[in-house]
Amino acid sequence: MSKYFHITTYGCQMNVHESEKIAGILSRMGYKACDNIEDSDIAVFNTCCIRENAENHAFGNIGMLKKLKANKRDMLIAVGGCLTQQIGKADTLHDKYPYVDIIFGTHNLNELEELINKKRRQKKAVIEIEDSEGGICEGEKPLRTSYPNAWINITYGCNNFCSYCIVPYVRGRERSRRSEDIIKEAEELIAQGYKELTLLGQNVNSYANGTDDLSFPELLKKIADIEGKFRLRFMTSHPKDFSEELARVIAENPKICRAVHLPVQSGSDSVLKAMNRKYTAADYIKKIEILKKYVPDCAVTTDLIVGFPNESEEDFKATLSLVKQVGFASAFTFVYSKREGTVAAKMDGQIPEEVSKRRIMELIKLVNAQTREQTSHYVGKTIEILCEDYDEKRGKYLGRDEYGRMAYFSSGENKKGEFVRVKVGSANGMSLYGELTEE
Ligand code: 5AD
Ligand code: SF4
Repeated sequence: MSKYFHITTYGCQMNVHESEKIAGILSRMGYKACDNIEDSDIAVFNTCCIRENAENHAFGNIGMLKKLKANKRDMLIAVGGCLTQQIGKADTLHDKYPYVDIIFGTHNLNELEELINKKRRQKKAVIEIEDSEGGICEGEKPLRTSYPNAWINITYGCNNFCSYCIVPYVRGRERSRRSEDIIKEAEELIAQGYKELTLLGQNVNSYANGTDDLSFPELLKKIADIEGKFRLRFMTSHPKDFSEELARVIAENPKICRAVHLPVQSGSDSVLKAMNRKYTAADYIKKIEILKKYVPDCAVTTDLIVGFPNESEEDFKATLSLVKQVGFASAFTFVYSKREGTVAAKMDGQIPEEVSKRRIMELIKLVNAQTREQTSHYVGKTIEILCEDYDEKRGKYLGRDEYGRMAYFSSGENKKGEFVRVKVGSANGMSLYGELTEE
């Protein structure tokens, strides 16, 4: 009889790809994927702790499994991801949810098979959290779920220690995969028919820093040189390491999407300093100018935090004004979330919730207005879309252009994984609607 697994993923693309690796391990062990957690023989929670609400979400979902587990004693529940790697959190998890069978840290993912087997031999929970700086696991084949896009890790961990951020504590020090392994993986994916590769790292621009391996722009160029029609994306870039050479490589290689995610976090110099971001608003604007000099049509997206300790009304206004000046194509906006163990968690001047709420509403309003305004310019234009999926609700196919705009269109044939040309008829908020065209 078949055995089934179910994975619940929280957080970023990095975690989505990590879940693909977990799925790869479980399929190798003979499990099959299933859509409903109730049907699973092993339920895995791949958690995130970057903000408190992501953490609470995971805790809530794990809590809801108590009943299911009581009725289905053979079912295994495993919890992995960033949450488990915080000091003391694995024990909290174990105390609060004693029915969780396996708790494994971010550095223990490649031991999952061993941990499952160990749990089968013993009654008590298996807890394996390696408190190391982190290694690199090669050779485990992920079970990919986001065709026609494929994620490729290029770096793990982070050395930047932005004062609000827990990532360096739970993901370890920055380490880069060898370029030959990355290029080989990219070649295989293109040969298998993937049409978009996204290189992943907390700070891709510092790829292989301090080693004799390729620089990030060199690596990008090598991958862009692989035969075949495909798109190449990367995330995330840290503004302090974003170089002119990178802008040039984007300009010279049409396969590299003209879309850069460059988190600025704040427009206020004093807040940026307290965040330990190592650039000023003017430095950031300069980087954008360099990028636009080489790639004038580049879509720049960003991350923004409001309510960082001591953020004054003036600081917040500086963020609004930077957003207006840069004209981001879109932005992820966050309310600062205090993370135990980070430098900012010890700072005085925490901002009252109602102030942060008001600020984030104002910021979202501005960002959305800008995005809408930019989207409206698409009407009447013909764009190239990589079709990603079919939306049952709308009864339409969907995909993105190279700048990251989502477009919907109708087709009698399955277009998933194909590049198609779409004439945009209307724009609704952030999305475009159009028809297939030969133009
Ligand atoms: N509070 C709010 N937002 C945060 N981010 C990281 N840590 C925090 C935090 N403690 C945001 C940053 C980062 C994105 C991935 O998450 O904007 O770029
Ligand atoms: Fe966190 Fe800063 Fe590293 Fe990004 S660069 S993961 S925000 S510490």
